[in-house]
Amino acid sequence: MIKIDISQVRDFVPGNTIKALEPEVKDAICKLENGSGAGNDFIGWVNLASATKDSLLDAIEESARIMRQKCDVVVVAGIGGSYLGARAVIEALAGSFCTSDNDKKNPQILFAGHNISEDYLFELTEYLKNCRFGIINISKSGTTTETALAFRLLKKQCEDQWGREEARNVIVAVTDAKRGAARVCADKEGYRSFIIPDNVGGRFSVLTPVGLLPIAVAGFDIRQLVKGAADMEGLTGSGVRFEDNPSALYAAVRNALYRNGKKIEILANFQPKLHYLSEWWKQLYGESEGKEGKGIFPASVDFSTDLHSMGQWIQEGERTIFETVISVDKAKHSVLVPFDEENLDGLNFLAGKHVDEVNKMAELGTRLAHVDGGVPNIRITVPQLNEYWIGQLIYMFEKGCGISGYVLGVNPFNQPGVEAYKKNMFALLGKPGYEEESKRILSRIKE
Ligand code: PA5
Repeated sequence: MIKIDISQVRDFVPGNTIKALEPEVKDAICKLENGSGAGNDFIGWVNLASATKDSLLDAIEESARIMRQKCDVVVVAGIGGSYLGARAVIEALAGSFCTSDNDKKNPQILFAGHNISEDYLFELTEYLKNCRFGIINISKSGTTTETALAFRLLKKQCEDQWGREEARNVIVAVTDAKRGAARVCADKEGYRSFIIPDNVGGRFSVLTPVGLLPIAVAGFDIRQLVKGAADMEGLTGSGVRFEDNPSALYAAVRNALYRNGKKIEILANFQPKLHYLSEWWKQLYGESEGKEGKGIFPASVDFSTDLHSMGQWIQEGERTIFETVISVDKAKHSVLVPFDEENLDGLNFLAGKHVDEVNKMAELGTRLAHVDGGVPNIRITVPQLNEYWIGQLIYMFEKGCGISGYVLGVNPFNQPGVEAYKKNMFALLGKPGYEEESKRILSRIKE
């Protein structure tokens, strides 16, 4: 089981504050289940995992098989919700020094379309020269600038290196069924393609082909991932007791803390493989809750690395933070600290211990120190980093996010603020249709 421990929060919120949120949380769960809440046209993710058809998984696995057979490198082009979920899962499961550690023949997975850096794109295209590479082009709208720009470059290079005909076999599109330039291009070129369901927003789309195809290409078991999520659906439903429902408890606790002045949540891990899971989580909660002048700011740290950089701030800085630690019960591999006759480093007190035991004591010591320093602590325990448990964790956070957003009083499924920079950028770049905006912005710059 994934467990959530909130015992280190109680001293920071008055009396029965958490329990008192139960009716609001229950109401939020009902809204998610019966579709009566704000943004209800984007709650397709709620039952997505349990409704995933074998035929879809078969098709994804077949496309993955072809890419794995033909390509040494696969570039996943996408940004935000069309990128972070796949990267989070692949990096959590892959070996630290190779893309995948369960089969040496797995292609290397690279990412593009998540920035507009000329140097990044130059270096990527240089790296891909003489590589047998494929592309997964992921964009729900099909018009996102970062992704479209990277795809334009990569498509050309792919065609130059493979020839246009053969390039069609190593380019796959994941996009809307009908709308957007990515769909038009995929249909015209005859690429294999997958559909992103209309009712699933980007940041909730990791369990659609958006995440599943890259994860399958990387060599991981998407059926176990989906099964984990589907099982967590059952564990977080309206029929489950408040105290036993990890998503409900998580949503209640973070809202209780927010109402008591804790405005920043720091997601901490003690496993570098979870770095991108935190990035995914930041988008999920940041884009869902940060609106109408409200919302907990989601931050993240990788411990113990960041204890040597951010540790001071967390221990003694402004007391507006709380910490959520993801703790992985069992390490995948075994490394013992060796005994050393000379003991010059003074580490013989650790000899014979697993490195993970040292890590666990660092974790416990940190939690206790931070609580003593006035930082409430939520602990989420995951049995092991494998597809099944990652699937559970993903769904637990998604459901927690939907509930938490409703309890906060916002529509968790829109992101109107994301458009502001795009409008200015298009006006500055002279995109057709932005002439008025362009005049306005240029006069503002002159001032
Ligand atoms: O969660 C979201 O909706 C966003 O982060 C989008 O996923 C992101 O902007 C990419 O959009 P698209 O998939 O349309 O290219």
